[in-house]
Amino acid sequence: MDRFVIRGGNPLHGTIRVSGAKNAALPAMAAAILTDEPIVLENIPQVRDIETTRKLLAAMGAEVELGYGRAQHRTTICCRGLTSPEASYELVKQMRASSLVLGPLVARCGRARVSLPGGCAIGARPIDLHVKGLECLGATITQEHGYIEASAKRLRGAEIVFDKITVTGTEDLLMAATLADGETVMQNCAREPEVADLADLLNRMGARIEGAGTSTIRIKGVSRLRGTKHRIIPDRIEAGTFVIAGALTGGDLNVVGCDPRHLSVVLEKLAEVGVRTASAGDSVRVIGDGVLKAADIGTEEYPGFPTDMQAQYMALATQAEGSSVVTENIFENRFMHAQELVRMGANIKIDGNRAIVKGKTPLSAAAVLASDLRASASLVLAALVADGETIVDRVYHIDRGYEHIEEKLRGVGAQIRRIGEIFPKRAVPAAVRA
Ligand code: EPU
Repeated sequence: MDRFVIRGGNPLHGTIRVSGAKNAALPAMAAAILTDEPIVLENIPQVRDIETTRKLLAAMGAEVELGYGRAQHRTTICCRGLTSPEASYELVKQMRASSLVLGPLVARCGRARVSLPGGCAIGARPIDLHVKGLECLGATITQEHGYIEASAKRLRGAEIVFDKITVTGTEDLLMAATLADGETVMQNCAREPEVADLADLLNRMGARIEGAGTSTIRIKGVSRLRGTKHRIIPDRIEAGTFVIAGALTGGDLNVVGCDPRHLSVVLEKLAEVGVRTASAGDSVRVIGDGVLKAADIGTEEYPGFPTDMQAQYMALATQAEGSSVVTENIFENRFMHAQELVRMGANIKIDGNRAIVKGKTPLSAAAVLASDLRASASLVLAALVADGETIVDRVYHIDRGYEHIEEKLRGVGAQIRRIGEIFPKRAVPAAVRA
């Protein structure tokens, strides 16, 4: 199993490039199910969850072609010959977002058999809202042997009101409704940029969607969708992680290829902490020359402070003067990184869904264990300022969502090495190495 060895203390300087958003790429790949024509997706990140989705689609009979060389961030998916509208437990247990195929499969094939995801390191994460929404659209749903089976001759438009805001739930039903008979109005939808990006792709495929990116989405069903080409938006969470890396290490880092508008709440909070940033076009420059001061955060759905940045923010808070209260409002168990940070010298007390971080405490290198994707990122950040050599174990979690993070960080001066590499490496674009 791979590990990172990180020697802390180097300020990060230079230019670091952001990849395409994993959480936009996953629904975009699922959207290919909705048509028998090829979908070409650009700016696809090379991360493990994309490979899992490729396997998932290939197991159904889709042709998925991943680009190589200069085209390494392009993938072409053709779902002309879907033979088996099924997502097995083997794949769903590796990646919960596999449930994104449920809606598209019922809409296109009239039936779907998708494994229930089961528990997860960050909380229970049920998919009851996906199921309820599909029932509103007229699907018949049964559950047996750990699988959900859904069927419908043709889905029909309906009014759907989400009891709770769900990102992949909104995306799943948005895809399903594009091929339904009649109009669907969805209320209390997730407003994440990844939802808007999916709607953009679907509209290029011939769907008639209005309001994506707001809490009410209207979809006029069409009888078929066509192939198209689409560029995935930049990964706002990867960008935010790099901005914090620059701030923490006291560096001067230019985070390029991102969309600063998607980071506005994170950047506002960092300004409160004393981090100087300047956004221009598709880049954010972070100049880590100030004293960091404690500030509280509470995670919320977009446009609030993202739960996917909570762990990284906690690493920053350990180096800020004073007490920061970090409240996690989205997932019930997303503080697994806190105890590992404590092992590195942080002062963090957990009280229900709140973590109280008292800073500034010096961090010292230790052997730590990554428990989920964003927790791993938080440990890497802490290690960049810890005294000595930190070993971060189970980095397969970070490989699920960060593209070659160690190469990108090394390119801007971090001392980080992967040991026990088991995956073949691909070339990193020149700008990342600069
Ligand atoms: N929920 C339900 N029932 C449902 C669906 C969700 O109760 O049917 C609850 C969840 O348990 C949670 C809340 O609603 O408490 C929000 O969950 P949501 O459905 O929005 O999460 P998700 O769609 O499964 C996506 C991202 C996550 C990100 C969350 C929140 C993708 C592929 N995943 O998950 O990303 O944390 O939204 O923003 O888009 C990550 O990238 O590390 C990651 C975990």
